[in-house]
Amino acid sequence: MKYGHFDDNRREYVITNPRTPWPWINYLGNEDFFSLVSNTGGGYSFYKDAKFRRITRYRYNNVPMDSGGKYFYINDGESVWSPGWKPCKTELDSYECRHGMNYSTIKGVKNGVEAEALYFVPLKTWAEVQKLTLRNTTNEVKKLKIFSFVEWCLWNAATDMENFQRNFSTGEVEIEDSVIYHKTEYKERRDHFAYYSVNEPMQGFDTDRETFFGLYNGFDEPQTVLEGAPRNSEAHGWSPIASHYVEVTLQPGESKDLVYVLGYVENAQDDKWESKNIINKTKAKATIARFDTAEKVDVALEELKAYWDKLLNVFTVKTSEEKLDRMVNIWNQYQCMITFCFSRSASFFESGIGRGMGFRDSNQDLVGFVHQIPERARERIIDIASTQFPDGGCYHQYQPLTKKGNNEIGQGFNDDPMWLILGTTAYIKESGDFTILDEPVPFDNEAGSEVSLFHHLTVSFDHVVNNLGPLGLPLSGRADWNDCLNLNCFSNDPNESFQTTENKSEGSQAQSLMIAGLFVVYGRDYVELCKTIGNFAEAERAQKHIDAMVEAIKLNGWDGDWFIRAYDYFGNKIGSKENEEGKIFIESNGWCTMAGIGLEEGMVAKALDSVKERLDCEHGIVLNNPPFTKYYIEYGEISSYPPGYKENAGIFCHNNPWIIIGETVQGRGDRAWEYFRKICPSYTEEISELHKVEPYVYAQMIAGKDAFKPGEAKNSWLTGTAAWNYYAITQYILGIQPTYTGLRIEPCIAPEWKGFQVTRKFRGATYEIEVRNPNGAMKGVSSILVDGKRIEGNIIPLMPAGASCKVEVLM
Ligand code: GLC
Ligand code: GLC
Repeated sequence: MKYGHFDDNRREYVITNPRTPWPWINYLGNEDFFSLVSNTGGGYSFYKDAKFRRITRYRYNNVPMDSGGKYFYINDGESVWSPGWKPCKTELDSYECRHGMNYSTIKGVKNGVEAEALYFVPLKTWAEVQKLTLRNTTNEVKKLKIFSFVEWCLWNAATDMENFQRNFSTGEVEIEDSVIYHKTEYKERRDHFAYYSVNEPMQGFDTDRETFFGLYNGFDEPQTVLEGAPRNSEAHGWSPIASHYVEVTLQPGESKDLVYVLGYVENAQDDKWESKNIINKTKAKATIARFDTAEKVDVALEELKAYWDKLLNVFTVKTSEEKLDRMVNIWNQYQCMITFCFSRSASFFESGIGRGMGFRDSNQDLVGFVHQIPERARERIIDIASTQFPDGGCYHQYQPLTKKGNNEIGQGFNDDPMWLILGTTAYIKESGDFTILDEPVPFDNEAGSEVSLFHHLTVSFDHVVNNLGPLGLPLSGRADWNDCLNLNCFSNDPNESFQTTENKSEGSQAQSLMIAGLFVVYGRDYVELCKTIGNFAEAERAQKHIDAMVEAIKLNGWDGDWFIRAYDYFGNKIGSKENEEGKIFIESNGWCTMAGIGLEEGMVAKALDSVKERLDCEHGIVLNNPPFTKYYIEYGEISSYPPGYKENAGIFCHNNPWIIIGETVQGRGDRAWEYFRKICPSYTEEISELHKVEPYVYAQMIAGKDAFKPGEAKNSWLTGTAAWNYYAITQYILGIQPTYTGLRIEPCIAPEWKGFQVTRKFRGATYEIEVRNPNGAMKGVSSILVDGKRIEGNIIPLMPAGASCKVEVLM
């Protein structure tokens, strides 16, 4: 069952039934000011950091689900309703929500009145702009009472939910003209406030939540709205809100726009006040003035759309698969922007309080984003590297507001450092900017500790070399990519976190084949980089370690039919025939096949066949098999999940593309394509009822074959799945790979594909690529013509910036 449809021309997903199986959301903003908005108007806003600068409040995991948002209430004399159905839940005559590229519109029709709310964050603006368009489609005069609503959060989203003995006494507001200012704590240590305005004189307002709703009423029945009369309440403590009251009379056929601005301001310490205790509103007024008419709002929306035209024009594909094209050209790239902005911090599954930017997560996210805005990727790489320690280890996460390592989340995840090599080389291959390697970058943000970024890559590489176990394989530390395989944890205390509790790694033999494969793949990238910049001595030194690792994997990592997953603390195998549960895992088989280890000896094909046989199912490839059915203290969190969920045999979509890429190494385009389709959201749209989350973005996890409800997905949006699938489809299936010296063309496709076309903008030039596959090949390019001239090999040499060329590829 579907709840809407794609509108590819407008790059929108159109939801036509508000009762989606889960809130289907969108993100507004892509730089500093952000909002999450659900298909019924739920969600919240923040500035840069969802934990430290939360602007509006949200109630997670509530009854009903999705409580709190930017709501409009309409009292038309007959009914009280909301354009998004919620929160009033008055039955609408029609409903439509369109989620587009950083904007959403939600339209409801009731009693002949059409109300359409547009929500977006204009470019370079610290505010969310809302345009509410009201249209009278009847032959009678309509008198409407419009109430807006947002609820202020007391800035720190964590303490906002905890410390009520303080919170209920701090709230302060100011009301001037049609603007409601939220200035809690501004008098003391804060230099920021928020505001909510409307571009019409208001006939009333409320800023005290209890007065607006009535203490025992829900979001669906605010007392003032039901009565059709605001109370002009001024909040002192308790829970400040902002609600404007505007009366609108519409003649038959007439329509009217109201523009609301929800903004954030920072003032210099010595410029905070206009007069005693009256805030300096200059910046707020300037922003409000930029959007004080519907025309100005429309222009800003067009600018946002043009911005996305440009971003999405860097890579476009045309195949015979409409569902594939819309993912590659629109939604997958869009999701990559979102994961770039938020890492794993704020979604409807991540509270915005628990996590900041992940070291490994953000590096991986770059491979899906770097072609869109390389300059921002560059800045991100430096931010990430600045949280590294001199020995190459690093904080697992950092806070976006302070950019400092987050101590509470811990360190010692031994895969972390290698991902910096991926992020950096992906950036240089895309941009050709080698100067980033000379950039001075501190350790642990300590001024004076700066070394070159290249040095950070060296210590990343050496962190693996310096942390090898008795079998010559990398020690896993607190955990490798699989945060839940906690081999040095031995936790028996329910009050302990698996992620941060003491890492009892002294004397441990816990070694990871996942890190081993990762090291070979990105170690080779490091070697290639060293050679490219002429550092041959370092290339040679590094290559020796890689060769040794390949040998160690062949010797101690092969189980006969697949790659072992790890060795535990005591040196026992995990992911081996010898195990009763967890005989085979996806990660080591993904990484060791991507690395092509034992390709000639048939190990790659064999490992991939074992994955097919034991891990594949209707909805994707599960993480391990058989699942763990009891708690193994020596494995940790992984065995705490019921079978079929999360890291315990869930379809952890993030690592499915590792197998897809592994299949392309083996040249099996049919398998790669089959796996790709299984978890690709546009291909599961028809089973939205089961799948549950948005059909336009990837989810982190789909319940696996051992779960109670296989095929049900969770944790949409913020997942490495976005970048990895984009990387797998564009670089390994379509096979358009940026390299230091040009674009390499190496498709690996299903034999029934007759070909495809790609337009790729690369380092300022445009490549119009046409791939033809008349003989049903899966891999292998037989000739490439550039502007009619045959080239040697499969790397298209760089064109001068501004040039464009035609590339004909015959498979
Ligand atoms: C809070 C604290 C209490 C303290 C009081 C005055 O109520 O719980 O310990 O004495 O504030 O600061
Ligand atoms: C989550 C984390 C990621 C980790 C993965 C597997 O997606 O964000 O860092 O690698 O889970 O545990």
